[in-house]
Amino acid sequence: MSIISVINQKGGVAKTTTSINIASSWSKRGKKVLLIDLDPQSSATHAIFGDKEFDNTVFDILINRLSPEEAVVHSEAFDIDVIPSEIMLSGVDIQLAAHYGRERILKKALESIKRKYDVIIIDCSPSLGLLTVNALLASKDIIIPICPEYFSLKGIELILETLKNLRVGLGHKLNVQGIVITRYRNRKVTNDVIKDVREKIGLNVFDSFIPDNISVEEAHHRHIPVHKYAPSSKGAKAYNALSKEIKV
Ligand SMILES: Nc1ncnc2c1ncn2[C@@H]1O[C@H](COP(=O)(O)OP(=O)(O)O)[C@@H](O)[C@H]1O
Ligand SMILES: [Mg+2]
Repeated sequence: MSIISVINQKGGVAKTTTSINIASSWSKRGKKVLLIDLDPQSSATHAIFGDKEFDNTVFDILINRLSPEEAVVHSEAFDIDVIPSEIMLSGVDIQLAAHYGRERILKKALESIKRKYDVIIIDCSPSLGLLTVNALLASKDIIIPICPEYFSLKGIELILETLKNLRVGLGHKLNVQGIVITRYRNRKVTNDVIKDVREKIGLNVFDSFIPDNISVEEAHHRHIPVHKYAPSSKGAKAYNALSKEIKV
């Protein structure tokens, strides 16, 4: 089984869109999938369930009030299990400040349920703080969505620096499966970015670029995966192809 974190400290690069759509594509192909929303903004929870609020969330797991089993809900539309988020999560680093082993709470919590799944995907918040460190220490693999129009090499270097700190400081080695090109519009800009990523930092870039596509956005607001909303759209095809490229 794999645990994969979707990270980038930049907001709006399609972390959430990518997480929910590849999760659903994996499920369509027979994988048992759990998605964890680890962003206090709860974008994945809202994208999947609309305005519905949840009493049991990932926050309760992190403060040790609940076991993961008690916070899992099923989404019929995406055909995946989900651990939702809530805004209380935004204060969790202060709450856990004095907690010994606070970086590994999620990892420990997942021990009890990870065997039920083929893949667990963690949609991270736009930060490299305690929440994301919990996601990273629980994961073996990461994928990094980037949006070529707003790309900065410095941003990727910061992520790699964080990974290095986890390796050197906490002995945790992560595999960067690759960069996902999202919301792609202009081939020249995109090609320049890919060249930079490959040549200057030597990371894999997945072949399936996700185009800027209205169906992706509309599906998001209708709370269904793009492969169901508009199966023949460019966005749906790209996310299906990407879900096959990522190793689970
Ligand atoms: N391929 C795409 N085409 C059009 N809109 C997209 C695409 N990917 C993401 N979006 C839109 O961009 C916005 C930000 O995406 P989101 O996944 O929430 O980013 P992040 O999680 O990195 O902050 C959302 O409104 C989403 O619907
Ligand atoms: Mg998000």
